[in-house]
Amino acid sequence: MTTIPTIDLVDALAAEYADQSPSEILQLALSQHGEIAISFSGAEDVVLIDMASRLGLPFRVFSLDTARLHSETYQFIEKIRQHYKIDIEICFPEAQAVEDLVKNKGLFSFFEDGHQECCGIRKVKPLRKKLATLDGWITGQRKDQSPGTRQDIPVIEVDAGFSGPGKQLIKYNPLANWTSSDVWNYIRMMEVPYNSLHDRGFISIGCEPCTRAVLPNQHEREGRWWWEEATHKECGLHAGNLTR
Ligand code: ADX
Ligand code: SF4
Repeated sequence: MTTIPTIDLVDALAAEYADQSPSEILQLALSQHGEIAISFSGAEDVVLIDMASRLGLPFRVFSLDTARLHSETYQFIEKIRQHYKIDIEICFPEAQAVEDLVKNKGLFSFFEDGHQECCGIRKVKPLRKKLATLDGWITGQRKDQSPGTRQDIPVIEVDAGFSGPGKQLIKYNPLANWTSSDVWNYIRMMEVPYNSLHDRGFISIGCEPCTRAVLPNQHEREGRWWWEEATHKECGLHAGNLTR
């Protein structure tokens, strides 16, 4: 085990690991001292769980349950829990904040005034609470997922969105340099279980009301918050991408 890298070491480590495989980056993350967990959305980021289980190192997984996921995604998360015999730490939003939002604005306010408020309550606050208990997190973000916001993500970074004055949070993006086709080749080759929504034209999967299938040659991000401008398509989980 090595200790969590300090801020000045992170860039050096990112350069050193830039061309390493996702599995090697994951191994580095899981070998650090401190609390680290994989952030699993219930989509093709399942490959991180498969890789972690093959490494044979202990690992933690959490999912943010916004209470608006597709039933296929809930079924898939449960399938993965059983398949890999792992605990999945499910994070719920604060009940009062959700109750206030839907009482004041209804269940679909995001179509009227944008997704930021609802995502803030259902995703970002619960993530902040979870990350306050961790030293690092591992995401399934990739550069090719969003040319407008993710094209520069490094494999390892200090999380600009969630580090505080007294706390530095490390964010590992082992799949940063993989393409969608790399991920899907892995899923097929390793016979990794996948979310059944992918059989119906869904590529990027988030909450049910804010996600739709895409047509051939449409970019996957066009299936998310399609009524909004492409430049705004980060919900706050990866806020650091907007300031890079
Ligand atoms: S999002 O910010 O636009 O919703 P995206 O769906 O592309 O993110 O997923 C990128 C990565 O963010 C996932 O691989 C995962 O690590 C994390 N993530 C997204 N949604 C969730 C979720 N509901 N629970 C846990 N992690 C998530
Ligand atoms: Fe709310 Fe849509 Fe954001 Fe989910 S993706 S938290 S339903 S605005």
